[in-house]
Amino acid sequence: MREVKSNDYSIFIETESSQSFDFSTYSQLAILVDENTKRDCLPIFLEETNVDAILIEIPSGEEHKNLEGCQLIWNALSANHLDRNSLLINLGGGVIGDMGGFAASTYKRGIDFIQIPTSLLAMVDASVGGKLGIDFAYLKNQIGVFNNPKAVLINPVFLNSLPKNQLLSGFTEVVKHALIADKYYWKEIKNTPLEKMNWESVIHQSVVIKNNIVMQDPLEKGDRKKLNFGHTFGHAIESFYLKQGKPILHGEAVSLGMILESNLSKINKKEKQEISSFISNTFSIPKQPPLRALLDWMKSDKKNRKEKINFTLLNGIGSSIINQEFIVDELLY
Ligand SMILES: NC(=O)c1ccc[n+]([C@@H]2O[C@H](COP(=O)([O-])OP(=O)(O)OC[C@H]3O[C@@H](n4cnc5c(N)ncnc54)[C@H](O)[C@@H]3O)[C@@H](O)[C@H]2O)c1
Repeated sequence: MREVKSNDYSIFIETESSQSFDFSTYSQLAILVDENTKRDCLPIFLEETNVDAILIEIPSGEEHKNLEGCQLIWNALSANHLDRNSLLINLGGGVIGDMGGFAASTYKRGIDFIQIPTSLLAMVDASVGGKLGIDFAYLKNQIGVFNNPKAVLINPVFLNSLPKNQLLSGFTEVVKHALIADKYYWKEIKNTPLEKMNWESVIHQSVVIKNNIVMQDPLEKGDRKKLNFGHTFGHAIESFYLKQGKPILHGEAVSLGMILESNLSKINKKEKQEISSFISNTFSIPKQPPLRALLDWMKSDKKNRKEKINFTLLNGIGSSIINQEFIVDELLY
């Protein structure tokens, strides 16, 4: 069993990780699922824990990570009279974790919740760091809070049913963790075919990297920005395609974002080529939108000031540097 300690809770990584949590202290339990995690993950969880819980199901997909989705959850909690000593178990990908965590944090001014991430993205990224929320007024994660779960229980077995494109979407964050923080980890993932990957070890290494960064800077005032590598361009690319009515996966956008941001980094040509060829061979990279359109998106991002765009870049493979500002004109030429 691998346990990573965060500020006031633990992240357990192992098959049957749900046995590491004591459900018996709660007056009532509710499990939040979507139709996919209900079909593929719930039977495994129930077989492991044997808990008695009410089931709340919401439709899958980012388009349901909104107020209506929250209302479904709050309605179900209220209709089943869950009191303040209840627990919400979020069994799903990042959408379930973000929205379930937010709904739990606001229901009756906050009840306990745990994260049981079932997608690779949620295992290595969304379920660590306490960011919870929903999309609002066409803006991602516009409404939300920072709040920690009572525990994160990661069972790599859930990856067996995850579609390949979703696995790759999560793997982008793994690549990011290696590039920003650990050159040995980078070598390991670069030299191991996906089918041979030891996911338990990969998840553990990624969680340790993210957790260390987040513990030092929980509210994103400084070094937590390291986790933005690839995401400044990535978010703009994702928004560009969304506006075109051809949404792409977050990970696909970030994979291209990491190539573009590696090219802006002060690393040598060989390293840039190494990064670019690994990413292009591993992910299905979207066609690069016009630079001018991407820069317009980035200028409107709340993280940027006036005409300057703020990046996290690499200063070597396995090492990163925050607050690298470029004026828009510098990026165009
Ligand atoms: N809170 C954070 O720090 C943080 C960080 C990164 C991303 N996020 C958020 O996470 C969300 C994306 O997460 P995601 O990629 O997990 O998306 P998701 O929750 O939509 O899951 C992707 C798809 O995979 C399905 N699925 C999940 N696990 C499965 C399994 N084991 N077997 C079969 N199907 C399964 C889901 O039903 C869904 O259709 C976004 O909303 C993003 O904003 C949050």
